[in-house]
Amino acid sequence: MKEPKLKVLVFSASLRSESLNSKLANLASRVATEYGATVDHRSMRDFDTPSYDGDAEAAQRIPEGAVALQKCLAENDAFIISSPEYNASMPGALKNVIDWTSRFRPQPFDGKHGLLLSASPSMAGGNRGLWSLRVPFEHLGARIFPDMFSLATAHKAFADDDLADPLLHERFVKTIDAFLALAEAAKHYPCIKRAWVEFLGEPAVEAAGVDPVGTLHQ
Ligand SMILES: Cc1cc2nc3c(=O)[nH]c(=O)nc-3n(C[C@H](O)[C@H](O)[C@H](O)COP(=O)(O)O)c2cc1C
Repeated sequence: MKEPKLKVLVFSASLRSESLNSKLANLASRVATEYGATVDHRSMRDFDTPSYDGDAEAAQRIPEGAVALQKCLAENDAFIISSPEYNASMPGALKNVIDWTSRFRPQPFDGKHGLLLSASPSMAGGNRGLWSLRVPFEHLGARIFPDMFSLATAHKAFADDDLADPLLHERFVKTIDAFLALAEAAKHYPCIKRAWVEFLGEPAVEAAGVDPVGTLHQ
């Protein structure tokens, strides 16, 4: 693999210590490391924030969790999230930090490549939650990988830290590798950047290059 190495942020969107999504995120980090990427593995606790509050934003009281996610996005080329499904949608804690983080300028999700994973004890593996999660990310200009990976009956799916079913494990590795290959290609051969608009009818904010410390939208 050519230098510089691809840098990828990986985290589980569950706060639970025995989280199945954290197990899947750990496996994703291991596979990404084996691919040759530099992995920035984080915990949802790093990004947990109080509810979005426009008054707090106006007073520049930005929660540390949102500042941390904004920095991680700026410092990495791509992100992988393993998210639980709550009531057929994404966890509130994850949506909340996405909302806070979307207020920085340059808007941190714009143009970032993302891969969505889920794990659930259910037969659908939390896949509906990923479709709901795709919506705000795509709205924010993230390039969400078309393939997603949802681990069904996840409470029975692990053998130690691997997936017990070898075919499923192989599919998981192929999904991660294909995503990283695309993110790596985009890093070296960036597409033309379109101007990102928050709402239709608003003037465009020119998509800027990577800025390690963004500023808040005024
Ligand atoms: C409030 C709540 C709602 C849930 N809704 C769903 C759901 O819609 N679909 C599903 O597959 N699992 C649902 N579950 C079960 C979670 O998938 C399960 O608790 C899972 O282990 C959570 O992820 P974690 O292990 O990473 O913490 C729900 C759990 C909670 C607490």
